[in-house]
Amino acid sequence: MGAIYSLIRQNIRDLKPYSSARDEYTGEDAVFLDANENPYFHPLNRYPDPRQRDLKKMIAGMKSVSEKNIFLGNGSDEAIDILIRAFCEPGTDNIVSIDPTYGMYEVSAAINGTEYRKVPLKSDFSLNVDALRDSSDQNTKIIFLCSPNNPTGNSFTHSDINNIVKWFNGILIIDEAYIDFSVNQGFIGMIDRINNLVVLQTMSKAWGKAGIRLGMAFAGEQITDVMNKIKPPYNINSLTIHEGLTTLGNENEKNMRVSQIINDRNRLFEKMQKLKTVKKVYPSDANFLLVEVDDAAGIYNYLISKNIIIRNRSGIARCKNCLRITIGTTEEIEQLLKAWINYETSNK
Ligand SMILES: Cc1ncc(COP(=O)(O)O)c(C=O)c1O
Repeated sequence: MGAIYSLIRQNIRDLKPYSSARDEYTGEDAVFLDANENPYFHPLNRYPDPRQRDLKKMIAGMKSVSEKNIFLGNGSDEAIDILIRAFCEPGTDNIVSIDPTYGMYEVSAAINGTEYRKVPLKSDFSLNVDALRDSSDQNTKIIFLCSPNNPTGNSFTHSDINNIVKWFNGILIIDEAYIDFSVNQGFIGMIDRINNLVVLQTMSKAWGKAGIRLGMAFAGEQITDVMNKIKPPYNINSLTIHEGLTTLGNENEKNMRVSQIINDRNRLFEKMQKLKTVKKVYPSDANFLLVEVDDAAGIYNYLISKNIIIRNRSGIARCKNCLRITIGTTEEIEQLLKAWINYETSNK
């Protein structure tokens, strides 16, 4: 049955998925008396398409993949959870990931009773591939990478990924939530060749639609099949499908906003380096900057008192006294800089 099949949890392999009324009949123009819907209140009286065919068709065209290689989730957070549930046997299997990175991998692992092993990034935030290998064993079902990484902002190299797939036979997940803000090429092009690779993307960042909750997983069919098998039948609601189609049809606006955010990020990068309380501004491929300062809590609290909220990342690995700043509008960035300079003058 193939290498991926043998990685799937036994109870999931044995699972007979729920078959919804809309799975069985796929026509559009009929008298629908099959799903106990209300005949009034059109159009939201109807359940959404459980296979999200229109959305997948559009995404497939844009990403140059087959519709069969796409799983859509209620945010990429749902895809993260479903991948863990599909492949990790609670209490037995483990996940290896990098540290620091996006916090939901660890939370989802804990919810699913799966050991989560953290491998520190090197001091320049690059991958320690040897340490990832040393931390993996025969029960490592998933390795999570995030590129560009949250909160460090850097991307990992194709040669590192090619190295990992040489020895790792579990599921390698690369979360590309911030890929549109990067000049580096992502990894979707590799899913045809590497059947244990999953690439996650989202509508929440570059597309500006965090509110609709639409995440995408790109992978070989054996992986998307098992994800579709265990997802709730109607995990993407009709409003999200509609808004998703409209948004994707407006790629020019997305590109224009992404350029604007990148320009503002680069401008903020330059300006922050000149601030007295800033020790280091890390280069970023994402829509945020990680900044090392002399007193993270002091600046963070001062900004809150001025109604400006950033993220204090001091408590996490390799991020002592580091703040993460999301690139807002040009005006918001000016406001932040002004408040920061006021902080410096009042703390002389
Ligand atoms: C790396 C990364 N992945 C995923 C997400 C969440 O994505 P979604 O909104 O699609 O659930 C975030 C949100 O901050 C993130 O930083």
